[in-house]
Amino acid sequence: MTTTMTTARDTDRWAEQVLEEHRELRARVARLREFLGRARPPAGEKGAHSWAREISSQLASLHDALFIHFRLEDESGMVEDISTEHPRAANKISEIVSEHPDLLREARELVSATLLYSEGQAPQDAALRRRVGTLLDRLEKHEQEETSLIQRLEYRDTGALD
Ligand SMILES: [Fe+2]
Repeated sequence: MTTTMTTARDTDRWAEQVLEEHRELRARVARLREFLGRARPPAGEKGAHSWAREISSQLASLHDALFIHFRLEDESGMVEDISTEHPRAANKISEIVSEHPDLLREARELVSATLLYSEGQAPQDAALRRRVGTLLDRLEKHEQEETSLIQRLEYRDTGALD
């Protein structure tokens, strides 16, 4: 019992921060999604440049927040704690965190692609818009799966789950 309580306190150190960052990331993703849902003004008209520039800027900011967030998750003991407490979830959490490099790479590529798009006179680019939307969908799913596993960990002492 003493061991379990010690583990719970250790877990609390990262779990609270990770969950708080998940809330912030959800808000960022919602803001980006809302902006993405607006039409880009026709090329050459006022606002066409700033629409694409704003998407690029928000993606750059999202990338930087994710970089810091993923490092926290990778180095905090989250994977080890979840794997220890829920051995059956060990593969799942390893699989989820292994997506981090690819999510960062896609965010970087989209910062660059949307920046190039902002400088050009191209009309609506449905493929680029869809690609940003897909990244946001992946991120939401990714963080939601982590949140579910962390919550299982938090509830283990009360028997609320399992
Ligand atoms: Fe996360």
